[in-house]
Amino acid sequence: LMTLADLSAPQIHRILVHSHYLKQISLPWLQPGKLWKQKPSQSLDKKTVALLFSKRSTRTRVSAETAATLLGGQALFLGKEDIQLGVNESPRDTARVIGGMCQGIFARVGDHSEIEELAKYSPVPVLNALSSLWHPTQILADLLTLHEHAHLFSPNNVTEYKSIDDKRWTALPELRPLTVAYVGDSANVLHDMLVTYPRFGHSLRIASPENERYRAPKAVWDRVVELECDKKIWWGADPKEAVHGADVVVTDTFISMGQEAEKEERLRDFQGYQVTEQLCKDGGANPDWKFLHCLPRKPHEVDDEVFYGPRSLVFPEADNRKWTIMSLFDLLFGKWNLHSDKITP
Ligand code: CP
Ligand code: NVA
Repeated sequence: LMTLADLSAPQIHRILVHSHYLKQISLPWLQPGKLWKQKPSQSLDKKTVALLFSKRSTRTRVSAETAATLLGGQALFLGKEDIQLGVNESPRDTARVIGGMCQGIFARVGDHSEIEELAKYSPVPVLNALSSLWHPTQILADLLTLHEHAHLFSPNNVTEYKSIDDKRWTALPELRPLTVAYVGDSANVLHDMLVTYPRFGHSLRIASPENERYRAPKAVWDRVVELECDKKIWWGADPKEAVHGADVVVTDTFISMGQEAEKEERLRDFQGYQVTEQLCKDGGANPDWKFLHCLPRKPHEVDDEVFYGPRSLVFPEADNRKWTIMSLFDLLFGKWNLHSDKITP
């Protein structure tokens, strides 16, 4: 799984439903005082997932390691200083060797071609943990967070309870079509938003500087058009215009990992792109707009008032990295039925 463009909308929805379910059954399991304990699926029993990370990570790595434990398996962290890959060994040989010993590969790479090569030669499923082009697991967490906060966008929404083994759990709340604004760089996080949100009825309004380097590359835009997502995307350079009518405002770093040498130039080009109360007021966002950021965050992208304020959903969003990655690990590495459309927990 390289990008959410590889999955149909029902398949993505099924992953979210499963994430929400796993979260609800696992959280009580982790709290000693709770009486209701339903052990999550142990689909990774005796299995190992290799975490092949050539870049830093807090959320994705910790999510992966803790999720694998909950599913009864093990995650094996292999950083770029630990293994032969990239120095003494090719991605092709590495994929074959690791795939011979582990049952799944979760890989964070530099150039997207590196993960394509791993996937081509791996005998076991490969999941993208971030590449230069895509960040699929981030957008699953963002969508789960928005669904869980659906009542903020439709105050009359009532939570529906379902019963499993006489215990009560909530179904994934429905989300009305939203206007989602993204103010910032056209990078991996935005790219997976482009191929996903429109398929669930959400409109995207994006502001990034005019320069081609801050716009989606052809490889990404081709997937956007193929999925007919472009019909629900507005793209300009003015952040105020982008946030017009926005229910949700999103940004990401202006300097992605690997672009450190461009820092000065990028900071200059992104002047005026900081998300603030004033920007959203001037631009005419929905007065109840909410804020998302994949993290890690720098204050020049979003000020403290928004980031730590009541509009911010960034920490529930970070928490949800774990449950969505757990869902993917269960379906992709544990049960091998990620691509089914059937919506059952
Ligand atoms: N959002 C995200 O991917 O964070 P990490 O880089 O810390 O994993
Ligand atoms: N666009 C950022 C996302 C970090 C989670 C990066 O690639 O560094």
